[in-house]
Formats: sequence, structure tokens, C-alpha cells
Amino acid sequence: MTGPFAGAGLWFGGDYNPEQWGPDTWAEDDKLMRLAGVTAATVGVFSWSSLEPEEGTYTFGWLDQTLDRLHAGGVRVVLATPTASPPPWFSFAHPDALPVTAHGTRLWHGSRDTYCAAAPAYRQAALRITEQLASRYADHPALAMWHVHNEYGSLCYCDHAAAGFRRWLRSRYDDRLDALNTAWNTAFWSQGYTSWDQIVPPRATQYLPNPSQTLDFSRFWSDELMAAYLEQRDLLCQGTPGVPITTNFMLPNDYQNLDLWRWGSEVDVVAVDHYLNATGRPGRADLAFAADQIRSFNRGRPWLLMEQAPSAVHLYDQGIAPAKEPGQMRSDSLGYVARGSDSVMFFQWRTGRGGAELHHSAMVPHAGPDTRVFREVTELGADVRRLAEVAGSTVRARVAVLSDVNSWWAMESRGMPSSRMRYLPALREVHAALWAAGVTTDFAHPEADLTRYGVVFAPSLYLLSDAGAASLERYVAGGGHLVVGCFSGVADETHAIRLGGYPGGLLNLLGLRVEEFHPLTEDRVVRLTTGATGTLWSEDLQTRGAEVLAAYVGGPLDGRPAVTRNRHGAGFGWYLSTRLDRAGLAGLVEQVLAAAGVGPELPGAPTDVEAIRRHADDGRSWLFLFNHGDLTHLVPASGIDLLSGHQVDGELALPSAAVAVLREH
Ligand code: GAL
Repeated sequence: MTGPFAGAGLWFGGDYNPEQWGPDTWAEDDKLMRLAGVTAATVGVFSWSSLEPEEGTYTFGWLDQTLDRLHAGGVRVVLATPTASPPPWFSFAHPDALPVTAHGTRLWHGSRDTYCAAAPAYRQAALRITEQLASRYADHPALAMWHVHNEYGSLCYCDHAAAGFRRWLRSRYDDRLDALNTAWNTAFWSQGYTSWDQIVPPRATQYLPNPSQTLDFSRFWSDELMAAYLEQRDLLCQGTPGVPITTNFMLPNDYQNLDLWRWGSEVDVVAVDHYLNATGRPGRADLAFAADQIRSFNRGRPWLLMEQAPSAVHLYDQGIAPAKEPGQMRSDSLGYVARGSDSVMFFQWRTGRGGAELHHSAMVPHAGPDTRVFREVTELGADVRRLAEVAGSTVRARVAVLSDVNSWWAMESRGMPSSRMRYLPALREVHAALWAAGVTTDFAHPEADLTRYGVVFAPSLYLLSDAGAASLERYVAGGGHLVVGCFSGVADETHAIRLGGYPGGLLNLLGLRVEEFHPLTEDRVVRLTTGATGTLWSEDLQTRGAEVLAAYVGGPLDGRPAVTRNRHGAGFGWYLSTRLDRAGLAGLVEQVLAAAGVGPELPGAPTDVEAIRRHADDGRSWLFLFNHGDLTHLVPASGIDLLSGHQVDGELALPSAAVAVLREH
């Protein structure tokens, strides 16, 4: 059993903000937390102004009481540093530390995240309050984990960011401006730099920006935020050696400002906030997509679901906060546990009476404990206790999907052949096809050791480093099945195109050469000899040794290869030159899995039933089963259902929407 949770069961609780309430409410909180079975509370996430109302004046009384109360109630504390929301005094004292947008607008306080992470005044103030917390609470028995900051990610383009960017570039390019000019191909549009001081962040400019500059800025910013995190982490680590340290990551759908592979190795446990806003099967596929990524960023070890919504999640872009259906919170929460989370935690314990998120759902709603939501929370707390023995166990996958945010950043720059080709949907489609096939899937970095996987999918690897290309080559030569999606292997790590035909990084492995991209407009679909269709993209490719599995029918590419497979060493490189429709992709996934001899987690499980296992090092295993269909299904399984206490011998009748967790024989 591994991870910081070993021996502590699964953690259950959420963000707790007592500074927004008074002693009467605190007394009720103590009572209700016991009733709900809360075992962990994240405290102080945005409490800076309550802890340091004036610069250098500290008011820790309420936090002392909170930690004492929680400890008395058997609740372990995840203590946050409040640095994601500097108080108004800070903005007035250090206006240069307020963030500036790409258009040069300086943002004011009034919300949260109003700081530039590269501003020295901000970094110093953040370290001062962190040091105060570390020294004051180092020996507090409630302290179980540090939670640095909140959801790192906010961007800034100010002069501090520019200075940091220059320092980062000098280190990346060995202090050689000529190397930077080459990497950025600055001869195009007269951008040759003759002094480091001429380089600025990719601020708003006249027309298309330099894509290598924007890529490097994204890398720099992820590293700059990480430097801010590491300063706090190291300080906490010195003050409280042995107390695990984390920060909560986000997995937004349309952008990502952090390189989570790099960040994942700097935390003691990866924690995530996941606000699922789809329901039904698509929602569950999304949940699996997020959970499988987080587990992978945590190198397969148990991770922490730090925040989710008990009910309504505000979809600000759609202007609505839909409530969750009865039972959805339970099923989703256990869904994260099934995929390796050792906690079920929420934002937040009690719905705010005011402030920006006053209509965000919480474990204790505005209407109080006599509510459906609080009853479900209490029942879930009991379920989580029943699953205590699962803590520390891990999920094992034989299939991986490659992910690399560098590819995402590069391929979503402006000036690409099609702005309709988005990074995340390509990964999501392939992961969803594997999820629908009942296959347990990890994510992996292209440069990682992939040998444990029977099949590796690379749905969207536009940018591929030399090391990545070599790693994929080794994997296939050694007997792996690599399935490469279109518009992959095109650029190197500086975002220069690999010449000699696409996908330049993988020509040999795939046994083909793409001569020209044929991106498709919204009204165009391509047809394949297999009956499948493709959207978004097509390519004019010639095989050079690869076998043609499907060709285009009609249109400008009539008769040209569309899907291919190449024997390379002891393995196979498969290639898809278009984005297949759902049935076409499912068919191909099935074909590849069969060729590699990789099966679903639970052979014979009905399609409506999601099955996933956690394994302990001592040979025990737990089978999680979720029926997402409308009918009762018979599932081939045996063991003791930890949720119901029932013994199952060979077959389980699983009603619609039911969950079972079997300790297997
Ligand atoms: C998270 C954040 C929480 C809360 C929540 C609301 O991003 O960490 O503090 O704002 O969203 O959904």
C-alpha cells in the first residue's frame, strides 16, 4: 500500500471556510461533520485577509480554534496557504504586482487571483504568510497535509513576466541569442533579436504572433508558476518535514497553463478539482477521462479528489447552474475512487451566504441539513467508510493514451492548417472509445517507458521531440502496437516543421509519407472503403511499406490510403489520416486490441456496465461496477459487496444506476 493515505482509509470532506461564519455556526458544523462522517477538511484556501488584515498584522485566533475543533472531532486538516487571493492592502501597496492581460490592461482586486506570480513583491508576501503558517502549525496534531495555493494557472504579461521570460530563455538557449533566433525562426517577418531586452511576452500584436515564441512563453509560465509553488513547498518542507504537500490542479476543457507531467513529480500526491458538467454516459466517460489522467500524472499511485460539487455546478458560459440528479453524486464520487482516488472531497462544506460563489452547491446547502443533498452526503460518508480497505490500492492498465501539453500549446497556435483541429477532443474521442470497450486506460508521456503497455494511442502529437520520437520507435521495435492519429509528428520541440514529409518524426516507424494536408470544412465528410467516415481532416499519403487497411472513396483523395499498418521490428505502427466517426473509431480500436491481445477489464460485462479494478500489492483486488443503463444487468463477478455486505457467487444482478464494490476472492 502506497501514498500519504496509507492506513487512514479514504478521506471524506471538503473545503471548510469557517472565517465566513461565526461561533454558532461552528458548533453546528462540528455536529454535522460528525453526522456526515467527515474525516478531512481543507482550511484556509482563500483566507489571507482574515489571517493578515494589514501587512505584518496576524490574526490567527480563528484558525487556531478551527484546527483545535477539527482535531477534537477527529477531522484531519489539509491546511492551505492563502496565496491565491492577496488582500486589498497588498494591491495598494504593490500595484506593480497586479496582473496585466495580453492587451495591457491591469486587473484590480475584487475577485481572486489578482497577482502576477512573477512579481517579486507577490512572491515575498506569499512566502511571509506561508512561513507564519508553517511555524505556527508545525506541531498541530490536526495537520495532515499542506495545500499550497489554489489552482495555479493565472497568466500575466507584465514587465515582471517579461523579465522572468528573458531569464528563462537565457537558460534554455545557453545564453545564446543566435540559438533563440534560430529556434524561433525570427528571420521570418524581420523579428531577429539583437538584445535579450527586446524580447517580451506574446502581448497583443498586429497580426499572427510567432508560434515558437508563444510556445516558449507557455513553457516559461508553467515553470514560473512552478517556481512560485516550489518556494512555498520547500519552506513548508523545512518547517514540517514529513507532512505531505500538494496543490490542487484543474483540468479545464479548453486550455491548460500547466505542464502537469512536470508538476506531478513535484507534489507528494496529485490532487485535482473536477467539476463534471455532463451527465449520463457522456458524463461518466468525462469522469474517467479526468480520473485516468490524474492517476497517470501521479505515476499510477493513489491520488486525491480535492474538490467536486455536491450538486449544482455553475456553468458560467451557459449562465446556468443545473442541480445534480439524486444518486449522481454518490455514483460519480465512487467513480473517482474506482479509478484510484483515495478521497471524496468537495467544494465546499457549507454554501456561502454571500460572496462571488453564493449559489455554488455545498455539502450543507442554504436550506440546512434537512435536505436531499445533506442526506446524500451523509449516506456517501457511510459508503466511503465501508470502502476504507481500498485505500492505497492501485489501478493497472495495459493501454495508454499519450498526452503532452507542448503538443496542445503548439497545435492550438494561430496559423495552423485548421483551427477546427483541437487537441483535447482528439484524446477524448480515443479515450471514450476505450472506455466504451471496457478497457482500463492510463495516460503517458511520449518520452516515458511504455513497455508495460500492449497498445499505445497517440491521437494528437503534433509536436514530437527527438526524445519522444526515439521512445516511440523503441516501443514499436520492441513489440508494441502504436496507433498514431493524424497531424502528429509534424513539428519538433521548437515548433519547427520536420522536413521531408509528414509525420517527419515517425516516417520510418509508420512506413509512409504524407505529402499534403487536406483539412475539411464543417460541411465536408470523407468516405472510406470500410464504410466509415472521417471529419475535420484528411491527408494525401503514400505508403512506403505500410499495409493499407482503408482507403478514401471519392473526392480529391479517391483511392489514396486513409488507414494503414506497418510492421516495424517486433511491433506495429498504425496510422489514421482522418478523424474517424464514432463507429469507425470503435471498430479500429477493437481491431488493434485484438491484434495486441488486450481485453476489457471484465470480459462478458454488459455494455451498460462500467467495470474497473483496484489491486493491492498483497494480491487482493476490488471490482467496482456501475450500471449506467435503464435495466438491471447480470454481471459475471464474485466476492463480497462492501457497500451492501452481500456475498456474490458468479453472477451479480446490478439494477439500473446501482454501484457495487466487490472484494474479490
Ligand atoms: C474551484 C475553486 C474553488 C471554487 C470552485 C467552484 O475552481 O478551487 O475555490 O471556486 O472552483 O466550482
